[in-house]
Amino acid sequence: MSEEFITFDKKSVSQTRLPTVTVETLNDLDASDLSEICDATEEAIDAGGGFGWISPPSRSVLENYWRGVLLIPERVLIVGKLDHVIAGSCQILKPPQNNEAQAFSCQLTTFFLAPWARGYGMAGQLVIEAENYAKSNGFHTINLDVRATQDRAIHSFETLGFSKIGTHPNYALIEGKYVAGYYFTKQI
Ligand SMILES: CC(C)(COP(=O)(O)OP(=O)(O)OC[C@H]1O[C@@H](n2cnc3c(N)ncnc32)[C@H](O)[C@@H]1OP(=O)(O)O)[C@@H](O)C(=O)NCCC(=O)NCCS
Repeated sequence: MSEEFITFDKKSVSQTRLPTVTVETLNDLDASDLSEICDATEEAIDAGGGFGWISPPSRSVLENYWRGVLLIPERVLIVGKLDHVIAGSCQILKPPQNNEAQAFSCQLTTFFLAPWARGYGMAGQLVIEAENYAKSNGFHTINLDVRATQDRAIHSFETLGFSKIGTHPNYALIEGKYVAGYYFTKQI
């Protein structure tokens, strides 16, 4: 084998290496985590999928949002990392303690990935991690809602066994126009 061929082969291997995908439940965000999750949030909002935000708020608002998530006992933060950099997240939202009638169910919410982290299978891993958390904490059902325009998210939920149970015609108001939303559920 010639030296020239070996050099070419090494280069092509490094170019085609798949990034490492990891997901984890976090109880704390250090300064670097906070910076990364704010970057990912801004990028997702700019790309049109920022769990309610239509345009990115100031950095201090974003930082306070994420610090606040960790302070709320009903919220569980699950992050996804691509090559060890936080690229997106989802949250499990538990019902308040007074809601005994719905204590069996929780919500999957604020699910997003920065555009550069899409297409690597992280979305499915985040949802599975959320499901595992919910199951091991005694929940029997996960509910979620999503704008009808979020095709990738809808495809992911259907692939992962969520059933569409309803449509809200005026789910969100984007640039003066109503956008429909879909409601999904899954027994776990
Ligand atoms: C939803 C989101 C987290 C999914 O992450 P992702 O990395 O894009 O997910 P995937 O690459 O696994 O793609 C999801 C699926 O959609 C498919 N898909 C891609 N483009 C699509 C399109 N335009 N229409 C329908 N399906 C599409 C993919 O092929 C994949 O299906 P497969 O696993 O059967 O191949 C990400 O796209 C995102 O952050 N979107 C904006 C925010 C959002 O919609 N959040 C959900 C709110 S509940």
